[in-house]
This record gives sequence, C-alpha cells and structure tokens, in this order.
Amino acid sequence: MDKNFYITTPIYYPSARPHMGHAYSSIIADFFSRFKSIDGYKVHFLTGTDEHGLKIQRSAEKQGLDPIKFCNQISETFRDLSKTLNLTNTDFIRTTEDRHKKTVQHLWKELEKNDHIYLSNYSGWYSVSDEAFYNEDEIEEVDGKKISITSKSAVEWIEEESYFFRLSKWEKPLLEFYEKNPEFISPSSRRNEVISFVKSGLKDLSVSRKSFSWGVQVPGNKNHVIYVWLDALTNYISALNYPNKEDELFKKFWPASLHLIGKDILRFHAIYWPAFLLAAKIELPKKVYGHGWILSGDEKMSKSKGNILDPLQIIDEYGLDPLRYYLIKEVSFGNDGNISQDRLEDCINSDLANNYGNLCQRVTAFAIKNCDGKIPEKIKFEDDDFNILNKFKDNLENIRSKIDQQDLNFYIDYIVNSLFEANKYFNDQEPWKKKDDITRLNTIVFTSLEIIRKISFLLYPIIPGSVLKALKIFNLGENDIKLEDVSKNEFLIKGNSINKIDILFKKIEKDND
Ligand code: MSP
Repeated sequence: MDKNFYITTPIYYPSARPHMGHAYSSIIADFFSRFKSIDGYKVHFLTGTDEHGLKIQRSAEKQGLDPIKFCNQISETFRDLSKTLNLTNTDFIRTTEDRHKKTVQHLWKELEKNDHIYLSNYSGWYSVSDEAFYNEDEIEEVDGKKISITSKSAVEWIEEESYFFRLSKWEKPLLEFYEKNPEFISPSSRRNEVISFVKSGLKDLSVSRKSFSWGVQVPGNKNHVIYVWLDALTNYISALNYPNKEDELFKKFWPASLHLIGKDILRFHAIYWPAFLLAAKIELPKKVYGHGWILSGDEKMSKSKGNILDPLQIIDEYGLDPLRYYLIKEVSFGNDGNISQDRLEDCINSDLANNYGNLCQRVTAFAIKNCDGKIPEKIKFEDDDFNILNKFKDNLENIRSKIDQQDLNFYIDYIVNSLFEANKYFNDQEPWKKKDDITRLNTIVFTSLEIIRKISFLLYPIIPGSVLKALKIFNLGENDIKLEDVSKNEFLIKGNSINKIDILFKKIEKDND
C-alpha cells in the first residue's frame, strides 16, 4: 500500500498580524505532518493565503493600496510565520497565483457545463468578515445592529444578480455520504451539527458577486467574480495541479487525508466543498476535522474583536517549542481552550525543564562520568528494564491508530506518563548505588538512554527543535527518527560516544513562587 498523506490547513485571510488561532491551526497540522513523516509516509502539507473577496478589497482600500500590493505584503507575513513556527509545509499557495485561478475557472466551467450553476438574483444577509451568507433565522439584532448569531460579525443586506450553485440537489447525496463515511466529519459532535443542518434543508448557494471586482472572474461573464469560498476551497486541488488528473501530485495525494480546520468554517468544508466535488465528479477528501477555538476570556480570539494574543511575542519571550508543547497539551484537542501565561510557564518548568530536559541532563552526565562517556556495552536486562522498555513496543500500534483518529489528547498523555515513568525508573533503580555491580549500572544507564531516545522520537512532532538538540547526545539527526524504531530496545550502538548537551529548557522564575 502506498503510504501517502495529504494534510491541509485552511488558507489564511491575510490579516496584518497573525494571531494565536492561526498559529494553533498550523502547529497542529505540523504535528500530524511530522508524525506521518517519521512513520514512513510521503507527506504533502499545504498552507497558504486566501486573498480574494470583499474583505480583502476593503482592507486594501483602507490602507490606500492596490489589493494585489496589499496581498503581496501580507501574504509574506504568513510565509514568515510558517518559518517561525518551524512548519514542514511542502507548499504555500496563494489564491492570486495563476496556477490557482486556472483551476478555479476550470472547476466553474465543469459545474456550469453539467447544469449545476444558473443565473438569478440574490437578496439576503452577508457578512463580509466571514464572507458568508446567512438566513434570517441565523441573524440577531444587538444595539440596533444586525449580526450573525454564531460568529457575532456584522451582516449587511445585499441584493444583486448572482450565479447560484444547485446545492439543494445535494442534500440527499450528502446525507448518504455522511452515513457511509462516519469519520468524514470529526469529531462526532461536529458531524451531528452538520447532519442536522443539512437535514433542515439546503438552499441553492450564491456563488458569484457583481458589486466588486477583487476575485477570479466568472468565465464568460466579466461582470461577476466567483464567490470567494468556491475560489478558496479549490486551493486544495489547484495545489495538486488539478485538472491534470495524471499529474504526479494529484495521483499521489488526492483525495486529501485530512483537512484540518477550525470549527467556524465547518459548513464550508463539510457541506459546500463535498457538494462542489460531487457535482464535478471529483473524489471527496477522507476527513474534515474541526478543532476548537483558542479563546481570549470567553470569546474566540480574532482581529475584529481586538482580543488578539500575539504568537510572535510569546515565541520571543519563551521560545517556539514551549508554545507548541503548550498548545498541544493544554488545549484539549477538539474543544475550545484558553491561553494562560501562567500555565505556559508551569508547562515549561515542570514538563519540559524538569521531566524531559533534566532527565536528559542527569542520565547523560551520569553516563559520561560512570560509563566512560560511551553507550555501555556489557548489559543484562532484568524484568524492571524490560517492563519499561517494552511498554513502547506494546503501545505503538495503539498510538498509530489514535493518531489516525486525531486523538492528540491520548498522545500527549502517553508522553507525559512515559516521562513520569522514565524519571521514576532512574530514581528507583539508583544506579549511583550500583558502582560495585558494573553490569547492573550499565544496564540501568543503557535502559535510561534508550527510554530518552524513544521518548524523544515521540516528542519530535511536538517539539522538533528541542528534540534535535537532545538527540545530539547520541549523534542522531532528523533522518534517523523513525517511529517504528520506538519499539526497538537495543537501537543505540554500544560503544558509541555520548555527548554532553546544552540545557534544553531554561526554568522560568515565577513571581508567585
Ligand atoms: N480563509 C478562510 C479559510 C479558507 S480555507 C479554504 C479562513 N481564514 S482565517 O484566517 O480566518 O482562519 C484560518 C484558520 O484559523 C481557520 O481554521 C480558523 O478556524 C482558525 N482560527 C481563526 N481564529 C481562531 C481561533 N481563535 N482559535 C483557533 N482557530 C481559529 O477562515
């Protein structure tokens, strides 16, 4: 079986400063990308920027810039962010690129050719901030202003000529598809939400706008631009060179393994996108996972609410890996989570500095002093050693299957427990008292080093930079990290040198200590 894995993040609206919600989506996607890579998969990891539509046109106008100039500048900040976050994305797509625009127009023509699109008039509510149409029952009035009940963003009334996609026709086929593919929408709470929305009835969807021009032109009608969501969603296949179905990228990576998205854009990915694909006779992605929000207080963090936490500031102050670890550990995956600097500092001090960093330092220092700076050669495992070493082997299949279900919470708990057990093992075995039984001392050191190696391999998708520093102990580099080797008990080469490493995580002095 080909081991290919195609993961996507949503392409970001280029807003002047990326916030923690953006960073979160990307870091999680990077976790899956790295995990699958070390598990022997060829990974295609796509991210990018979503640059058309009224929202962008207005933002550019506000700054007195031509939209493309505005996008060029801001798209670059997201490209920079992907570097700052140490993402392993294999592509970065911009919807203003020709490769993308061509695919969007092709898809449009396919839909039109097969009578899935017709020209009519739209009148209804539209949120520019969400780039979404809302029904009357999805709107409320607060302080004299009409807003969307779910996103709380302002809506405006629009009436204009528009092309429509026959979404209503796909109600039944979509429900059948969800039924046959129960994992298509995950987690299950989101699936239920989507199913009940579809069951309540789908209306045809307006898929073009006439009153502004910043978008991909409707083929054959230069008065209309294609609705920005039809344009944006298509990025997932334009990046694989669709419509060239014979293209290597398309053959290898479509259907996508995982569209990772925030729950606010579930409707677009779990209803509209599969309906467009069904209509165009393109295979559907395997899974759409809607994660929760990073909250600030009780609210979703977003630029329009002015409650943004700046990931760059946090990275400057604490470093990238602590932020990656913190977001993965403390935001229960699938649910909303609050960010707290205090909890971040606790994570650094207890999990990273004490449980992982200190373990690496202690064991290495002891081995350098007592085992001649080498991986001990003469060893003889006892039950205590086998017990802890074999746990990794026994759990590997389970770990893989949990990751295929995006059970990040299981994964991080597994690591936290393993670190606890590793420290306990080293303390309980008291190798410093075994100086007159060198085989036992060697075996404890060897076992501890192997555990550090195994845990480091598992930690790599979460804190890659720090793990690579830790693996210098064994002269191991990125290409040596293979998930299957987590099950090996004698991976380290006996007699090889052990290197001293710098402190991995500095403890934070806390004001209230
Ligand atoms: N441009 C669209 C996506 C098009 S995909 C074909 C978009 N962009 S966005 O910049 O607003 O959001 C990008 C991603 O960040 C979405 O998955 C969104 O859910 C996520 N987040 C934005 N704010 C967030 C939080 N406060 N918390 C967690 N993720 C959130 O939507």
